[in-house]
Amino acid sequence: MATSREQFGSRLGFILAAAGSAVGIGNLVGFPVNAAKNGGAAFLLLYAVFVGLICLPVMMAELGAGRSSRKNPLGAYQHFSQGRSLWSIGGWLALITPYMIAVFYAVITLWVLGYLVAIVSGDLSALTNPDYFGDFIDSPLVFVYLAIIAGLVGTILHFGVKEGIERGAKIMMPALFVMLLGLVAFVLTRDNAMLGVKYYLIPDISKINAQVINGAMAQAFFSLSLGMGIMITYGSYMDRQNSIPGSAKMVALADTGVAFTAGLLVLPAIFSFNPDTNPADLSDSSVSLIFTFLPKIFLAMQASVGYWGASLVAAVFFLLVFFAALTSLVSIIEVPVSGVMDQKGSTRNQALAGVGLTMVLVALACTVSFGIVDFLTHFISYGGGGRSFFDLVYDVFYDTILPLNGFMICLLVTYRWKKAGLNEELEHGAPDFKGSLLERYSNFALSTFIPLILLFVFINTVLNKFFEMSLI
Ligand code: PHE
Repeated sequence: MATSREQFGSRLGFILAAAGSAVGIGNLVGFPVNAAKNGGAAFLLLYAVFVGLICLPVMMAELGAGRSSRKNPLGAYQHFSQGRSLWSIGGWLALITPYMIAVFYAVITLWVLGYLVAIVSGDLSALTNPDYFGDFIDSPLVFVYLAIIAGLVGTILHFGVKEGIERGAKIMMPALFVMLLGLVAFVLTRDNAMLGVKYYLIPDISKINAQVINGAMAQAFFSLSLGMGIMITYGSYMDRQNSIPGSAKMVALADTGVAFTAGLLVLPAIFSFNPDTNPADLSDSSVSLIFTFLPKIFLAMQASVGYWGASLVAAVFFLLVFFAALTSLVSIIEVPVSGVMDQKGSTRNQALAGVGLTMVLVALACTVSFGIVDFLTHFISYGGGGRSFFDLVYDVFYDTILPLNGFMICLLVTYRWKKAGLNEELEHGAPDFKGSLLERYSNFALSTFIPLILLFVFINTVLNKFFEMSLI
């Protein structure tokens, strides 16, 4: 079996695919807004420290566990724990989490596509109508866009790891970098843009408190696609001659670089729209920023570049977000697909059909939980208010469970697989890693404070979200 497992074709291909997974809506919108609200460069520094000291070792552990076991997350947990059932809980969570995240991420991606199509058809000004978003997400058009997204992702995954995932990333990622840099260059030449740069880059230490630290940690973990089983799965497709530490560093760097650069796009754009902006008033939600605020900002650019110029800028931005979301969606759906292939011995197409079909059904339930179906719109109540089915999926899987999954993978690799096993895997293809500071640091950190911090962030988030309480 092991010899027939698919593989990435090259180290660069792997790095682009993994970076494609990591670079998503979280980088392009979530990070800039978080940074702006929470102390600018002070937040950035904190975030970079978390990426280097906590996320990088976890990413290496996930990649190592995948490459050594050559299995999907459930298979990897079973492999290292020799089938002990308690550990399998971790494996199941690492399969269910990406499944559920994929469902609602698909919903957001279809909205992005819908907006892109609207802008290209000349409707930018209509998007700024306060009712547009609400009407759009409740319209039958969403089913068409969902079908298109399912078709696109299905086609990429059908072609497999090398010809599908890797090839897609090799096209979309460079295009994404170029579009991002082009947009930054354009936005920085707008009036008052420098006010945004200043706001972004001047550190304000006074904003850093325990909640902000907790938020920076959660954001970094999410942004690097950790705790979602993705890095275990992608690791299982990695060539053993390639360096895991080296590749993980590149992925972390690319992800953080894109998040930082997106700040140079979003904040100057907001300030050039309104120089009196107070970023503290920005909405916390990436969704409201993308779909209600940013279209207004793009439309306002018509004063200097005309309606079609403004539409072009908006279209490039939405295409950028669409590519980022699509490569993330591909990576996350590959996790359950590889799970079904490994565990059930199915072919790729059978697994894809099974996962895809059930996923579309759950995605439909999310899609119609904004008013179309009352039961799903008023699904449950917690944390001081009524929540829809979509809210529940979002709160549990997107916002809460990842640090718990990270906690379990740390315990699995250091206490079941043991450090010697992990070290041996990570040294393969990276001879310099043996005895290095990073190796010694990771050994210590993964078995001590990293799982503790992740557990703490998890408990704190649960208390916050569901019980309106806090540990800090
Ligand atoms: N890192 C991704 C982001 O920033 C997180 C993600 C990956 C989400 C895969 C969904 C699927 O958006």
